[in-house]
Amino acid sequence: MTQDSSSSSLAHQASPTDSVGLYEGLLNTRAIRRYTNDPIPDQALRDILFAATRAPSGSNRQPFRFVVLTNSERAKRAKKLIGDTAIEFWAKKKANDQYDKGSGADPDSPKSRMARTMQHYVDNFYRVPALILPCMVRYREPSPMEGASMYPAVQNLLLGARALGYGGVITGFHGSVEAEIKELLSIPDDVFISCTVTLGKPEGQHGSVRRRPMEELVFGDSWGEAPGWAIDPPGTRFTSAGPPKSVPVV
Ligand SMILES: Cc1cc2nc3c(=O)[nH]c(=O)nc-3n(C[C@H](O)[C@H](O)[C@H](O)COP(=O)(O)O)c2cc1C
Repeated sequence: MTQDSSSSSLAHQASPTDSVGLYEGLLNTRAIRRYTNDPIPDQALRDILFAATRAPSGSNRQPFRFVVLTNSERAKRAKKLIGDTAIEFWAKKKANDQYDKGSGADPDSPKSRMARTMQHYVDNFYRVPALILPCMVRYREPSPMEGASMYPAVQNLLLGARALGYGGVITGFHGSVEAEIKELLSIPDDVFISCTVTLGKPEGQHGSVRRRPMEELVFGDSWGEAPGWAIDPPGTRFTSAGPPKSVPVV
């Protein structure tokens, strides 16, 4: 374990209290892809990662590990490596999903705004304030259930960030450079990089998330039939967004 004097003083620093409120945070933690240039102080990183590491896992085995990359030379190389593939990935997806067609031709449409946000995100990936690689130490053969011991910790990370005024987004951008990233950061072969998360101070606001109506997502004792209480509260905003159905998913 390496500790400098500023980090050892964190041992005496209690966890923060926050003003967001748990339920409110659940409803309005958006995917944040635009960040200010502010670095994330060590104390905030400690508090966010502390929340992440408090997540549940099967038998409390805690297979999650977090590689936190800020501004070291290796961090910069990792951000650039993943950022370059993100630029390629987005260029293909933008063309494939026809982001500039249909409502995308209108610069004020949600589709156009999303495309601009994504372009800004990938173009600036190399300088995100923090790039976090949530990793899973595999202790048995891969199974569809294994993520259940990993992704709650990732959500804790995002909600911990939200509580402290930060924001982030999960991505799969590391996929095509996983081998290079593992070599760069000495990540063992049997460790699975479960996703990437970028974090920073949001440029702009979180806001309430939009999802499908509850009745499409919550069923009673017959598949597809919502119970009577599955009614969205007043003011709920909806979307069925996702990739266009007519083109192959990338
Ligand atoms: C498993 C998973 C993979 C994702 N992959 C990406 C990605 O590769 N790039 C990206 O920009 N966002 C990615 N996201 C973020 C989603 O697009 C985002 O959470 C979703 O659109 C909801 O956004 P909202 O909460 O702001 O409404 C991913 C999210 C999840 C949970």
